Amino acid sequence: MSVPILQISDVSCYYGAIRAINGVSLEVQRGEIVAIIGANGSGKSTLMKSVAGLIRPNSGGIKFEGAEISGVPANRIIYKGISYVPEGRRLFANLSVRENLELGAFSERDRRLVDERIEAAFELFPILKERERQLAQTMSGGEQQMCAIARGLMSDPKLLMLDELSLGLMPSLVEKVLESVVEINKKGVTVLLVEQMVQEALEIASRAYVIQVGRIVREGTADELLNSDEVRKAYMGM
Ligand SMILES: Nc1ncnc2c1ncn2[C@@H]1O[C@H](COP(=O)(O)OP(=O)(O)O)[C@@H](O)[C@H]1O
Ligand SMILES: [Mg+2]
Repeated sequence: MSVPILQISDVSCYYGAIRAINGVSLEVQRGEIVAIIGANGSGKSTLMKSVAGLIRPNSGGIKFEGAEISGVPANRIIYKGISYVPEGRRLFANLSVRENLELGAFSERDRRLVDERIEAAFELFPILKERERQLAQTMSGGEQQMCAIARGLMSDPKLLMLDELSLGLMPSLVEKVLESVVEINKKGVTVLLVEQMVQEALEIASRAYVIQVGRIVREGTADELLNSDEVRKAYMGM
């Protein structure tokens, strides 16, 4: 088997005395869409932030393409090919769509490449082209989420981490945004995604991990988890 694109081994993270992540191990193979599902406060964002270099794990290892990246600062992580779209989008509210996208490409000095990536983003999300000069804060939640994903793609990542894309979106938009994730994946970007819309996430993922109070309690193929009574009861309200 080939080297996983991402390999998290026995990672623990604390906020002061509070342990948010407790010995988590997981793997993502190149080309996969992998979902992490779990209730509020179970440690999903903390795990992604530790991969993105925004939090330094207290113990354990994180390998990207076989090289240790645990403790590498966030700006270096982006250069290595990992992009993190945080929960709540975090766009620059007073900047236009185009300006937000340009900031997403800060790691790229070649102007021509930046323009190409903006064009690719507009192809993926045509509405963003229409809104190109509009301030981010004046757009709908769905448009802002598309802009956040597009910004995340501007560094041309190999691994895209998406944290709760569906937050605050109406169901019809959630589907649309998740369809765009499938498109992005088909173009060769590996995806790690955190979602509370569990059914929707499992429908696009190949595999998933269930996290509970900072621990992975279950893993399986998306189909296995979709068909598990336990998972359906706990996370899909069935
Ligand atoms: N900056 C922080 N300071 C202190 N505790 C935090 C901080 N961020 C998260 N936590 C705590 O860590 C745990 C995991 O949080 P988080 O990773 O945000 O979970 P999730 O994304 O699954 O909702 C929670 O108990 C949360 O209260
Ligand atoms: Mg979170």
